[in-house]
Amino acid sequence: MRIAFFEIEEWEEKIIREAFSGNDVFVSKDKITSAYLPDKLDFEILSVFIDSRIDKAVLDCFPRVKCVATRSTGYDHIDVAECKKRGITVLYVPGYGDNTVAEFTFGLVLNLTRKMYQSIDQIKERGSFSLDGLRGMDIKGKTIGIVGTGRIGKEVIKIAKGFGMNVIAHDPYPDENFAKEIGAEYVSLDKLLGNSDIISLHCPYNKDTHHLINGKNVGNIKNGAYMVNTARGGVVETEALVYALKSGALAGYAADVLEEEGETKEELQLLVSGHPKEEELKIMLENHILMKMPNVLITPHNAFNSKEALERILRTTIENIEGYLKGTPANIVQ
Ligand code: NAI
Repeated sequence: MRIAFFEIEEWEEKIIREAFSGNDVFVSKDKITSAYLPDKLDFEILSVFIDSRIDKAVLDCFPRVKCVATRSTGYDHIDVAECKKRGITVLYVPGYGDNTVAEFTFGLVLNLTRKMYQSIDQIKERGSFSLDGLRGMDIKGKTIGIVGTGRIGKEVIKIAKGFGMNVIAHDPYPDENFAKEIGAEYVSLDKLLGNSDIISLHCPYNKDTHHLINGKNVGNIKNGAYMVNTARGGVVETEALVYALKSGALAGYAADVLEEEGETKEELQLLVSGHPKEEELKIMLENHILMKMPNVLITPHNAFNSKEALERILRTTIENIEGYLKGTPANIVQ
């Protein structure tokens, strides 16, 4: 079997080659998109991470591919419907780092509420010990609203409880037993927006959650609340977010993800590779405004990035591909 792994780090290569020693294995540190393609294209299995984009154009270039194994929980970088149409199995890694992302989420919460980044930055950059503008807010006794109570959302709730916070949550598939046990209450999205001091997003990105927070409901957010997004950028309409932050309706926003994240990371490539769409350019401009705002903290999609989580991702991906090779695939994207 010809198996290709993209976006691979040095430490992973040895483990991959050992695991698939009987197969023809290709390993690359590069991502794949229609603008970045490897020289060889006759692979039967592709394993990618989130910066690759497996769309129709890319699939056209790999006519023999039968399985795409993403080393991530989110799979919005893969055109799953197109894969299904072509009989390509898509495998993913559920739950490799629920605590990993939840811990990072709370890092962002504390950075927003206690101005940790600004505090450290002013000493490093200016040697200033002034407390001007650094007053924060306690989180004990405050209400956190969790949008999406799956694996990561539940871990965030457990941590929030440790901080003594009240927890409300919204999920179209509520887990009432969990809520009862931990002491959280499910509410409508609008009620969550109106009653949370901190809103934290943990739902997947798909057509139903595209712009879940948007120009129509952003006005329902409790005045002066903070929002944290470690889910996906497209869950929030960037234009509405910028206005809410500018007006002060939202006190601060911290995110590990951006709408049109790939394009924003690779702006130059987007410009030289053809004709960027007007909507993409608009969102990229909004992202630049967002990134420069004093009450906004953006991290480079780093929430998953712990040593332990990466080891779990690789182990599960190897098991996923082994299962596929044996004819007993697990962790199939439905
Ligand atoms: P999960 O599948 O366990 O949980 C997602 C939850 O969201 C489910 O309970 C689902 O019912 C709920 N949901 C679906 N639609 C919703 C809606 N409209 N409103 C509210 N809730 C909704 O997924 P998991 O493992 O908790 O991951 C969540 C997301 O976090 C992933 O899809 C991925 O995009 C993102 N993620 C980000 C990482 C990062 O490094 N920043 C790393 C890993 C995941």
